Amino acid sequence: MFAFLLGSILLSVVAFSQKSLASVAFCENADYESGALGISPYQTYQAAPFHPIQLNYALPPTNCPANNDVQGYFFLTPAGVVIMQDHVLILNPNGTLVGAIPGTFMGLHKYNGVDHVAVWKGQYEPGRRAYGRGYIVLLDNTYSPVANLYDLLYMNGVDIDQLQDDSKPWGWRRSSRVQVLHHELEITSNKTAIMVAYPPQAANLSAYGGPENGYIADGVVQEVDITTGRALFTWRASEHVDPGECYAAMGDATGKGTREYPWDYFHINSIQKQDDGNYLVSSRHCHVLYLIHPSGDIIWRMGGKMSDFVLPKGIEFSWQHHARIYNRSILSLFNNGATHFVKDLPFPQAFLLKFDYSNVDREISIINIQSPFNRKPAAARGSIQLLENGESIVGWGTSPYFSQHDANGEIKWSAQFAPSQNDNGAYRVFLHDWVGRPSTLPSMQISNTSTSNNVTVYAWWNGATEVSAWQLFGSAISNPLALTFLDVVSKVDFESTLRYAGEEDYEMFRVAAIDANGEILAYSDLVSLDGEIDVKADSQTVMGTRY
Ligand SMILES: *[C@@H]1O[C@H](CO)[C@@H](O)[C@H](O)[C@H]1NC(C)=O
Ligand SMILES: *[C@@H]1O[C@H](CO)[C@@H](O)[C@H](O)[C@H]1NC(C)=O
Ligand SMILES: *[C@@H]1O[C@H](CO)[C@@H](O)[C@H](O)[C@H]1NC(C)=O
Ligand SMILES: *[C@@H]1O[C@H](CO)[C@@H](O)[C@H](O)[C@H]1NC(C)=O
Ligand SMILES: *[C@@H]1O[C@H](CO)[C@@H](O)[C@H](O)[C@H]1NC(C)=O
Ligand SMILES: *[C@@H]1O[C@H](CO)[C@@H](O)[C@H](O)[C@H]1NC(C)=O
Repeated sequence: MFAFLLGSILLSVVAFSQKSLASVAFCENADYESGALGISPYQTYQAAPFHPIQLNYALPPTNCPANNDVQGYFFLTPAGVVIMQDHVLILNPNGTLVGAIPGTFMGLHKYNGVDHVAVWKGQYEPGRRAYGRGYIVLLDNTYSPVANLYDLLYMNGVDIDQLQDDSKPWGWRRSSRVQVLHHELEITSNKTAIMVAYPPQAANLSAYGGPENGYIADGVVQEVDITTGRALFTWRASEHVDPGECYAAMGDATGKGTREYPWDYFHINSIQKQDDGNYLVSSRHCHVLYLIHPSGDIIWRMGGKMSDFVLPKGIEFSWQHHARIYNRSILSLFNNGATHFVKDLPFPQAFLLKFDYSNVDREISIINIQSPFNRKPAAARGSIQLLENGESIVGWGTSPYFSQHDANGEIKWSAQFAPSQNDNGAYRVFLHDWVGRPSTLPSMQISNTSTSNNVTVYAWWNGATEVSAWQLFGSAISNPLALTFLDVVSKVDFESTLRYAGEEDYEMFRVAAIDANGEILAYSDLVSLDGEIDVKADSQTVMGTRY
């Protein structure tokens, strides 16, 4: 049933999207925004079964499409009617694909002192992405899982399974709009994970126009020791924040206050632990950033009906995402100013504020305000990443754009990964350095037009960042490991094409991924011309020959 649904969704996307073999980003391509290239333009390859989004620099960087303003890789998970949605995409600044991991990007996190990719895997509530059920895995730089954080939360008394109904095709019934882990993840230097869940909680809602024996979706923050599985901190919004403080009236979009459909009055969407042990919690539906003491007490509120700070004019934020504090004095925030049922602002903004963490001085000053290139509302999602040089990368939430801003907030360039009419976007978009050394082997496919003395081979290696060239080798079936070098090409895209045409006949082929120093990183399997004989590379000795 589910597979069938997925199949028909993919088919319909194919029908109204146009494939594009051009894989570097477009620069100011007007057909892209108009929808003339389909509502989800994507890249294809000769053989690699990947269809990542095709970028368009709607506002080009000075060097388009190379984009010398950035170093590293873009990490994002395009959502909605996009082929290969729900994959963490790692893209070069020029738009070419580096790797794709199934799941939703939850950030790059230091764990054991080195970077790991956190990926949420699960199912969203059909038709909506505010709620979903799933778990987070941490992947090391070989893309191997080192921790599964679902088990930890579950073990520690956050009863996310209480309303599960396996008889439903998507594994849980609408009533359990339990949103597990999807909105935030932080890994601390103490090897703890900070996570969020929205378990249903019985509540008397008659004072808010709901049922006396009603239900809210609680907002739970939990910090768990990843090594021991022990919960170190659990905070429940329902024990500290009265729904009267919040703005999301009970209704269809926020839940009716019933057990079937609990009222999502709080809606946590970011948490950041501070060096002093306090937690910064963003409540989208209360329009508040709370600083929470390890005892659970609220130290201060920023924004909303009971703000302990005076917000300057123009930054009275609402329905916000992704709050972060730097150096106990600078706050970055993505202000949606809108949701699917209220529009406070015509388009979102991101900002950097200077404030007094100790809240002695209640005044806040504006460092900069960042505006989107396409001035369309963003009803959900969004992120702002402060770079070390004071510049920032902003992901414009449901608006499928991201951009770089200088230290004054001025826009430097803006890329789109779908036309604006595709109101889906990405949860967060970040720029990161990354070294991916996959534990999987390089992939190859021999073109079906090939003969023993005229061969075309396609090579790719999902997630590998260190490949600068590919080599092709051939051998005789009688002695497959006596390999002859046949071709070498520089790697400029996700997939590379290697060719041999000559006097000699070969029956077996394999490729080698070569790094910038000319060292062989790994071989693919050895494959016969007809694709039927396959000698596993891991049964071979890697020769380490320099070429
Ligand atoms: C529910 O709350 C209302 C007023 O807020 C109160 O009158 C009523 O007694 C409460 N019901 C229960 C079962 O506590
Ligand atoms: C790490 O643990 C120490 C000792 O318990 C504590 O003082 C510190 O605040 C913790 N740091 C973080 C980032 O949680
Ligand atoms: C925080 O302070 C450090 C050390 O002074 C500095 O290098 C860094 O740029 C500051 N971060 C921000 C966002 O101001
Ligand atoms: C090669 O593969 C393509 C794509 O699958 C197919 O259309 C074509 O007929 C094949 N050609 C041969 C010679 O088998
Ligand atoms: C090798 O095959 C390709 C593609 O099938 C063809 O275009 C080319 O002419 C062939 N080369 C030789 C030397 O036969
Ligand atoms: C795209 O960018 C990557 C990283 O800088 C580079 O290795 C690759 O050659 C570029 N590809 C093209 C087609 O420009």
